[in-house]
Amino acid sequence: MTNDELQMTGTLIPNSSFLIPNLNHLAMIMDGNGRWARQRGLPRLAGHEAGTETVRRVMNYCRDAGIRYLTLYAFSTENWSRPQGEVDGLMALLGAFIRKYEEELMEKQVRLRTIGNRADLSAGLQAEIARVEAATAHFERQVIIALSYSGRNEIARAVRRIAEEVRDGTLAPEAVSEAAIAAHLDAPDVPDPDLIVRTSGEMRVSNFLLWQCAYSEFHITPVLWPDFGEAEFKEALEAFAKRSRRFGGV
Ligand code: IPE
Ligand code: IPE
Ligand code: MG
Repeated sequence: MTNDELQMTGTLIPNSSFLIPNLNHLAMIMDGNGRWARQRGLPRLAGHEAGTETVRRVMNYCRDAGIRYLTLYAFSTENWSRPQGEVDGLMALLGAFIRKYEEELMEKQVRLRTIGNRADLSAGLQAEIARVEAATAHFERQVIIALSYSGRNEIARAVRRIAEEVRDGTLAPEAVSEAAIAAHLDAPDVPDPDLIVRTSGEMRVSNFLLWQCAYSEFHITPVLWPDFGEAEFKEALEAFAKRSRRFGGV
């Protein structure tokens, strides 16, 4: 198909200046909102609010780059230990974000889904998420928000479900394989991330996608999340393009 033909069928045409082959799933640890606010003498929540604008920008870059899956680490299970005011503010921002961008997600044909322990969230937020997930479920491109998420918690919940199936006789113990564990994770149909980007310079994984990151490439930028823009996005993609992924082979 020529580009003109693709355009006529309405297929997404990635912007070629962004296009990186084999980058199907990008995952991001959105860190540094608090430091961004502190540098400006603002409350931490002002940093989180500025960070939601970056989310919107990055969603658009991914669309231009033809990236099918974008996973964003928005709130870890460990983040519940932050001061109540910050937790409440973050939850309110998440709800507002989902409401505000629902229309844009529909328009840009993006499927929204979440991973994490849904039961930890308020009934109101759970209902909001369920509504937008259902409304966008038929779209191909996906934005996956990790919410009350940690890799260990996700694996523990998967193992619990497997144990229940073994107890009920629907799964044989010999059938508990790597594939069976992967199939019980929160988004089993989503391929492992090819690239994990972390902002604000910390060289750690902070309990993100522990099972899925087995062969992911990592890119860490010192730039704080609210300042992450097109130049940093391109830099991350270019760094990825130079990597030689061997998956244990030669
Ligand atoms: C990331 O920014 C957002 C969340 C973890 C919710 P931080 O709030 O961790 O910002 P820093 O790391 O304190 O700068
Ligand atoms: C990781 O950031 C979690 C999210 C981005 C949601 P944190 O700020 O919570 O991680 P640590 O505490 O620096 O490891
Ligand atoms: Mg942080």
